[in-house]
Amino acid sequence: MRFYEDPEQTSLHREPPRAYYLPEGLSRVTSLNGVWRFSYSENGDEEREPEVWDQIPVPSCWQMQGYGSPNYTNVNFPFPVDPPYVPNLNPAGIYERSFTVTEPEFQSYLVLEGVSSCAEVWVNGLEVGFTEGSHLQSEFELTPYVHPGENLLRIKVWQWCAGSYLEDQDFLRFSGLFRDVYLLERPKGHIRDFEIRTEKNRVRITADRPSTVRILDREKVIYEAPGVSEADVSIAEPRYWNAETPNLYELELSAEGEVIRERFGLRDIAVSSDRELLINGVPVKLRGVNHHDTTPDKGWTMTGEEVQRDLQLMKSLNINAIRTSHYPPMPVLLRLADELGFYVVLETDLESHGFTRRNPNVPYRYDVEAPEWPVNGPQWKKEHLSRMERALERDKNHPSVIMWSTGNESGHGPNHEAMLDYLHRRDPSRLTHAEDESRAGFQDRTDVFSMMYPALSRLKETAENPEITQPVFLCEYAHAMGNGPGDVWDYWELIESKKNLIGGCVWEWCDHAVLYQGKLCYGGDFPMERTNDGNFCCDGMVFADRSLKPGSLEVAAAYLPLRAEWKDGRVCVRNRFDFTDLSEFTFRVRLVADGKVLEEAETAVSAPPKTEAVLPVEFRLPESCRLGTFMELDALRADGTFLGSLQIGVPVPVIPAEEAFTPIEPEEVQGAYLFRGEDFEYRISKYTGKLEQITLRGEQLLSSPMTLSAFRAPIDNERKVKMLWQNLTIWQGENLDEAFENVREVKKEDRDLVLSGVLAGVSRRPALRFTIRLRGSAEGALRVLLEASVAENAVWLQRLGFDFTFEHKNLPFSYYGMGPEDCYQDECHHGKIGYFQSTAAQEFVPYVVPQDYGNHIDAKELILSNGVRFSAESFEFAVTEHSAAELTKAAHAGELPEAEHTFVRIDYKDSGVGSASCGPELEERYRLNEKEIRFTFRIDLLKKSPK
Ligand code: GAL
Ligand code: MG
Repeated sequence: MRFYEDPEQTSLHREPPRAYYLPEGLSRVTSLNGVWRFSYSENGDEEREPEVWDQIPVPSCWQMQGYGSPNYTNVNFPFPVDPPYVPNLNPAGIYERSFTVTEPEFQSYLVLEGVSSCAEVWVNGLEVGFTEGSHLQSEFELTPYVHPGENLLRIKVWQWCAGSYLEDQDFLRFSGLFRDVYLLERPKGHIRDFEIRTEKNRVRITADRPSTVRILDREKVIYEAPGVSEADVSIAEPRYWNAETPNLYELELSAEGEVIRERFGLRDIAVSSDRELLINGVPVKLRGVNHHDTTPDKGWTMTGEEVQRDLQLMKSLNINAIRTSHYPPMPVLLRLADELGFYVVLETDLESHGFTRRNPNVPYRYDVEAPEWPVNGPQWKKEHLSRMERALERDKNHPSVIMWSTGNESGHGPNHEAMLDYLHRRDPSRLTHAEDESRAGFQDRTDVFSMMYPALSRLKETAENPEITQPVFLCEYAHAMGNGPGDVWDYWELIESKKNLIGGCVWEWCDHAVLYQGKLCYGGDFPMERTNDGNFCCDGMVFADRSLKPGSLEVAAAYLPLRAEWKDGRVCVRNRFDFTDLSEFTFRVRLVADGKVLEEAETAVSAPPKTEAVLPVEFRLPESCRLGTFMELDALRADGTFLGSLQIGVPVPVIPAEEAFTPIEPEEVQGAYLFRGEDFEYRISKYTGKLEQITLRGEQLLSSPMTLSAFRAPIDNERKVKMLWQNLTIWQGENLDEAFENVREVKKEDRDLVLSGVLAGVSRRPALRFTIRLRGSAEGALRVLLEASVAENAVWLQRLGFDFTFEHKNLPFSYYGMGPEDCYQDECHHGKIGYFQSTAAQEFVPYVVPQDYGNHIDAKELILSNGVRFSAESFEFAVTEHSAAELTKAAHAGELPEAEHTFVRIDYKDSGVGSASCGPELEERYRLNEKEIRFTFRIDLLKKSPK
């Protein structure tokens, strides 16, 4: 056994964990970030000759600097499951740099905020120590090894070690000094550790050395005591901390010329008898997200500014909680969470999911009775406890941290139990979380009952199950991969209706795609992967570069703590905040009919949390409208920034405009029927029964015939469609990606052309039978009536409607329907119904793996700039640069062909998007599963081209 394979000896001379802080005053903090000398070798036992060493930036992940290659694997370990042994061809990087000791009388320390997977440290050729635990802070005292002036620091980092069996998180696997490295020089006798505990308005401070303790409230000293190692202070007129109003006080500890500053908040955590989560006695809901550290250019390495940008963006999307999946975050995240206001579920660095996959032909199983599971093995116990302790001790002083989590997907066993027992003993002021324990069916040691991805019905059953005696928390739900999530709104309507549902965290914040050799890559794209999980790492609610997608807006809409409703002729607003009165906001209200603003006003109203109030505006409703009438509300914060908006329907009778339609006879010509007039012609093939061409003022508009279709480019939530080798697919069953629209008969009935036939996938019996009735008008219109019967045992359809391919690329268009971003039946709460303008190119959503995009629901009219207008009582449509086939084929956005046409689909309906890539199957009600379908729409050819 190599020294780094021993699960019982995972550190040497590492300082005991302590609270995170950067000392000030006489103390010196010297960053050791920057360029280091670097020797990398695939066989870590070798060291390169000094002349051929490279240079590498610290912090960084060496796979992003050209050493080895990134590897994306989820559950599967990237090496054989043979604990505690790791491959003996174990790559290692040796880092060297000099540093200067300026205060020889002081004690000096080296801090590594994150190193994967383990590190040996030497100073001036003398061995200092060893550490494991990639995302946990390590500190070594250097005093005995250094001298004034220049010293040489050498750190050898191995890619794998025993600890790697505890770090099987679902992420790209990286190595190196990936977080900050710095030197501390501190006066002798300095404080090492201190703790802040609060209860109501009392704060109790303890430190391991006496110091002058001062408490400041917005720069004003409100307490001071010299030379104490304990202080118990009652704060008068306390301002409590919560995520909506993150009030902070400042603590200052001065000893030996050194000053330690830490901000703290007054906040109590409890569980009510109704199993609510109480913050300062007030029930709170967690509108959360799971956060991994990831950037497209640096992998796990992030800058403080990048973390800040993440949290500010989260705030703007109405997120109030973060689970640090599945390891402690960079320290800056917690400082920002305290300041900006987030509830944090702080998880330690632990996951051993890959043990479920170690046996061939044995189904995925948490067989923790087997001794090789780390959570079960006594030889792994110390390391489990140490990981929990290092997380807790570093982050114990943050008001934002409300729950400690033992890690993720590691099975439940004695070592977990020991971690939970430790947490209760060490910090009874916070709650404990262990999804592993909840999944195993126990409620002994955790304070919340944690679930992942339950269907709505199962969540409701759990909430109503009297045997679940804890608050119910969704540590993961709404899997945000690709086009989605579509289910988050419904979860929130349920969560708000049950006291014991305390909220949850969307999986996950951001795509983990990385720029590799100039391209945005995921599993399977890297040269040295021996197992990979494809694009399953691209499952963020924002893209890798933090740009937004419709799913981001959907989460923001569901999380917006406001709802509105039309009640007795007035707009009633419900306040879903936990602490904030509605009077903190201004509402801009508009009455909009047929896309026109009839009246608007700015107003305010008071309503305490969890109550509702009627807005004091009275608008005169129109007698009737042509398309629809709505009230729109924009909520603005006191500083004028935008909080969110809502649109609600108003009951004004809709009387559609009469449009002239003078039926004409179809003309029979060679091979076709024509509906034609002075400047237009619709040509329908006698043989295929398809509308082959639309000619307007001599110009042929279609580049291929109109096609009946039930296929859209599979979204990630339908990814099983693409797995042709597996027999567990949904639409693949009907093969409708390779569909045949077989018209069996084309006949004239009065003035109508009636086409009847079947739609069938290759190698399958017909999925549906249809008749399409076409009727032309002298004004140049064509009415299309589809009647379809779906086969008895057919699977539900992705969509049903007609595909058009128009000659010109990137056609501009305008529409009345839901926009401006794309929306699907279940992913539509971010949208508004109204008039919008766009172009095919503007509709594109750059999913890492191309998939369906651009859908709009609740449409009544779509006008293309080539003069074609579609209208119906209600339809769905998409106008795109890419066909479903092109989107299906491409594996990366960059592989999509240059656009040549504009693709338009006019749909009876599209199924919702859900989050089934990892979440539950799409809810019944969002599936297109009706058997008898009737859909009619109309094409008009505009006399003048629209602008
Ligand atoms: C969960 C797991 C996450 C992630 C997710 C799928 O089971 O806890 O880490 O793998 O599935 O994206
Ligand atoms: Mg996992």
